[in-house]
Amino acid sequence: MTTSERTPPRIVVHPDKERMARATAASLITTVVDAQATRGHASVVLTGGRNGNALLAALAEAPGRDTVDWSRVDLWWGDERFLPDGDPDRNHTQARAFLDAVPLDPARVHAMPASDGPHGDDVTAAAEAYAAELATAAEAEGSGGGENTEGTSVPRVPSFDVLLLGLGPDTHVASLFPEHPAVAETGRSVVGVREAPKPPPTRISLTLPALRAAREVWLLAAGEDKAEAADSALKGTDPLRTPASGARGRERTLWILDEAAAALLPASARD
Ligand code: 6PG
Repeated sequence: MTTSERTPPRIVVHPDKERMARATAASLITTVVDAQATRGHASVVLTGGRNGNALLAALAEAPGRDTVDWSRVDLWWGDERFLPDGDPDRNHTQARAFLDAVPLDPARVHAMPASDGPHGDDVTAAAEAYAAELATAAEAEGSGGGENTEGTSVPRVPSFDVLLLGLGPDTHVASLFPEHPAVAETGRSVVGVREAPKPPPTRISLTLPALRAAREVWLLAAGEDKAEAADSALKGTDPLRTPASGARGRERTLWILDEAAAALLPASARD
C-alpha cells in the first residue's frame, strides 16, 4: 500500500503548543462555519491525546465559538480506548468539558461504544456497530461508498469536513500503529484494535480508508518528542510502516506543528 500524493501535506508551524491550539481552534471555527453555510451542516472527527484535548479546550474558550451553530455539527471520533463509559482514559470522557460548553445536539454526538455497553467486551462487535452508525449517516447525506479515483473502495462513511488526528512518537494516528494489522485494513471503516503498543491495549479505530474519506485531514503534533515522527512520517511512503503518511484528506491535508515538533523539517517544507 503506498501513499497517495493527492493532497501532499501543507505544513503550518506555530511558536508553541498553546498558540498552536488557539490558532487551530480559530481555523476550525472558520472551516465549520463555511461548511454550514455551504451544506447546512458540518461533520468533525475528534481525536484523543494531549493535542486533541488542548484543541478542544481552546475551542471552548475561543472568541468566535458561538459563530458556529453547534446544533448542526456532527461530532465523531477517530478512535477510542475500549473502556467502561465514563472511564477517565476514554477520549469521550476527556472531551466532556468541551461537549458541555457548547449547545450540541446530543443525537449528533457519536461516541464510540464503551466496553460496558450493549456489546460488552466484544470490541469487534463494538467496531461493527460504529461502522453501521457511520454507514447510516453516509446514507442519509447520500455520500460515501463505491470506488474512489484511486480505484480503491471507499467505506460508507459521511463526508467528514475536518478529521483531526494526533501524531504518536512511532508515527501512529488514531489507533493505527506501525506494522499492526489494523493499519492494513482496507475493506472496513472501523476496526477493533488489540494489543496496541500505547495503553490501553484494546481500542476502536477508524481505518485508513475511512480517514482518507475526509475532505480535510488535520494532524496536530507538538513537542520535541514528535520531531522524529514528523520527519519520518512526512518522508514516509508506506503507511504500514509510518501510518501518519497515509492520512491524507481528499481536498486538503494540514500538518499543524509547533516549532519543537518541526525542528527536523527543512525550512523549505514549511508554508
Ligand atoms: C489516542 C489518540 C492517539 C493520540 C496520539 C498523540 O487515543 O491515544 O487518538 O492517536 O492522538 O497518540 O497523542 P498526544 O497528542 O498525547 O501525543
